[in-house]
Amino acid sequence: MDSSFILLSLAIVIILNIALMITRLTRAWCSCTICQAYVDSRWRSRFTNLCDWYTHLLQASPSRTVHIHVINSVITADPDNVEYILKTRFHNFPKGKPFSSILGDFLGRGIFNVDGDSWRFQRKMAGLELARVSLRAYALEVVDQEIRRRLLPVMESVSRERGVVDLQDVFRRFSFDCICRFSFGLDPRCLELSLPLSEFAASFDLASRLSAERAMAVSPLLWRAKRWLDVGSERRLRRAVADVDALAKEVIRQRRRFGFSDRRDLLSRFMESVSDETYLRDIIVNFLLAGRDTVGSALTSFFWLAARHPEVGASILEEAGNTRITNCEEMRGLHYLHAAIHESMRMFPPVQFDSKFCLEDDVLPDGSPVKKGTRVTYHPYAMGRIEEIWGPDWSEFKPERWLRDGVFCQENPYKYPVFQGGVRVCLGKEMALLEVESVALTLLREYRVELVDYRPVPVFSPGLTATYRDGLPVLVHRR
Ligand code: HEM
Repeated sequence: MDSSFILLSLAIVIILNIALMITRLTRAWCSCTICQAYVDSRWRSRFTNLCDWYTHLLQASPSRTVHIHVINSVITADPDNVEYILKTRFHNFPKGKPFSSILGDFLGRGIFNVDGDSWRFQRKMAGLELARVSLRAYALEVVDQEIRRRLLPVMESVSRERGVVDLQDVFRRFSFDCICRFSFGLDPRCLELSLPLSEFAASFDLASRLSAERAMAVSPLLWRAKRWLDVGSERRLRRAVADVDALAKEVIRQRRRFGFSDRRDLLSRFMESVSDETYLRDIIVNFLLAGRDTVGSALTSFFWLAARHPEVGASILEEAGNTRITNCEEMRGLHYLHAAIHESMRMFPPVQFDSKFCLEDDVLPDGSPVKKGTRVTYHPYAMGRIEEIWGPDWSEFKPERWLRDGVFCQENPYKYPVFQGGVRVCLGKEMALLEVESVALTLLREYRVELVDYRPVPVFSPGLTATYRDGLPVLVHRR
């Protein structure tokens, strides 16, 4: 690259930064206290995480809805609003073009990033596959093998050596192996800790984080300019996406070479009707995102809570006795375990918030007006902390709140939109629960997990799914 181009690029980035600083200093966009606190990050003086500040704002708002004008975003924790956005007026609240362009380089035209016909096609195909009983049995087989052949040996060696292990890292490797085997029939062997985390997984993490950071920018102008100039975080994002593309394409090439018509994985099903290689790459990346970080995050939070509440682990073990779970029905019979996992995701949902875009001017059920083009976000993390929804004991980790006479009772999905709800409800919920519950039960039976770092709240890093910034360092003791 010639030096005059580099100088020009730097000059443009500096000018953009100065323009942004002037706007911040003069607070030209909006002078309300919430917007000021957002723009100059003043919220950081009282809150560790952005989601905790949003929770505080939503708890204080009588309508449980706030408007952050500088990012043209309405955020709500009101279940009626959530139902209205996700079901009643679904067509007026699509993902929308701004979201697609923020995540477009990474997620392409995959299911998470599209509306309309392309979304309908992928949802139908994936929905049919994921609902098949044989596929569920296959998923259980994959999870069971990964636990016995890799997870337990890893935990055994950690407990013998009395060393500290990062459980978040272990769970992310575990769920990466599972989703790759299940979705593409490929085994990346990430959980063999002797191997470095594959270059692909590291690039995947980076692309996910940098894409999420785009969404937090006060103006999209900055990241667009950086992308155009190919500098800074945008350059790193382009390289990370190139690594992800290369592996996805290799998976497709191998599938074509060895045939896919008799395979049981999801990708093979898609390949029977899709030949466009880029589209197949997008499908692969989106399923990885769906099934890897979410499950890893759910497990990390569960063990963060379980380590502080040994009585919950004891009740899970008492209920399960010595039964070895061999099918989904047996798993469903473990009501207390099911309640404990739901309760842990109430407090720490893997997807902390989710945004849509308003197509035409609208009014939410709580009376909040929403202008065309506004970003509308529902916030499961804050919703788990609202007294009207969960009662005065909302801050307690209490699986019993999900049980009536010992039987697990499902909550209204708009009060608990951890798996979203309505027309685009998560397609992998059953599978995710199966995976999380299998790991939770097996590890609790064999080991006691002790936190090394006993801070009062987890610190999250920005990303599409909740990620513990410093991992979850623990000691592992054999029971
Ligand atoms: C604890 C684990 C999981 C949680 C909390 C979760 C949560 C969610 C949420 C909140 C959404 C909506 C996201 C959005 O529209 O932006 C979603 C969508 C989706 N999830 Fe999950 N998920 C989990 C695991 C999985 C797994 C394991 C799979 C696949 C095997 C999966 C497949 C999907 C798919 C395909 C969609 C897109 C649905 C659509 O747009 O129509 N999920 N999930």
